[in-house]
Amino acid sequence: MSSTQLDKLNTMVEKLLETATLDSNNLELNKENFDIIALLQSLMSNYKMQFQNKTFNINFQLESLIVNADIFHIENALNNILDNAVKYGGDLISIELKTKKTNFEVLISDNGNSLTHENKHQIFDKFYRVPKGNTHDVKGFGIGLYYTKTIIDKHNGSITLELNKNLTTFKITLLNGS
Ligand SMILES: Nc1ncnc2c1ncn2[C@@H]1O[C@H](COP(=O)(O)OP(=O)(O)OP(=O)(O)O)[C@@H](O)[C@H]1O
Ligand SMILES: [Mg+2]
Repeated sequence: MSSTQLDKLNTMVEKLLETATLDSNNLELNKENFDIIALLQSLMSNYKMQFQNKTFNINFQLESLIVNADIFHIENALNNILDNAVKYGGDLISIELKTKKTNFEVLISDNGNSLTHENKHQIFDKFYRVPKGNTHDVKGFGIGLYYTKTIIDKHNGSITLELNKNLTTFKITLLNGS
């Protein structure tokens, strides 16, 4: 029990530190070359193992894609979206990587279908949580998506929430090479 409580405290401290850094304009990216497909694959095998009651669909087009970005923050950003999909979304989660001419997209979707068009922008605000209803008693700080958007913006990329055909999709776009 104490180990669980320690984990929770740890998460809370991490979240507070993350937000403090984000707001202080002191956030420095530490860019390096890494394979984003390998990163996504390892994240997905963790999630599959941890949440065996969910179905994960993976579609990556490529075997490998080398990018130059801050792996620590990008991994946290992806984790936040996956964490939300598991916490608030449906039982079907899909993750796709699409390459375009000048950029690539990572799309994380779930079939939870509880968000509305009103949420499209506010959901990225600091401390915003959708008022009760879909969240039940899931604990959270309302920081995950604010952090994620700040990190993606800092990489000159973008993140949007797209709602269609009963799917909730978070689309991250990053420039090729970045
Ligand atoms: N895939 C999703 N389906 C439905 N609602 C979602 C989804 N992702 C996010 N949300 C809603 O958006 C809110 C904001 O998400 P965000 O990740 O910023 O904060 P959080 O999950 O509440 O807390 P934490 O700081 O621990 O991540 C959530 O509280 C939830 O209401
Ligand atoms: Mg969250």
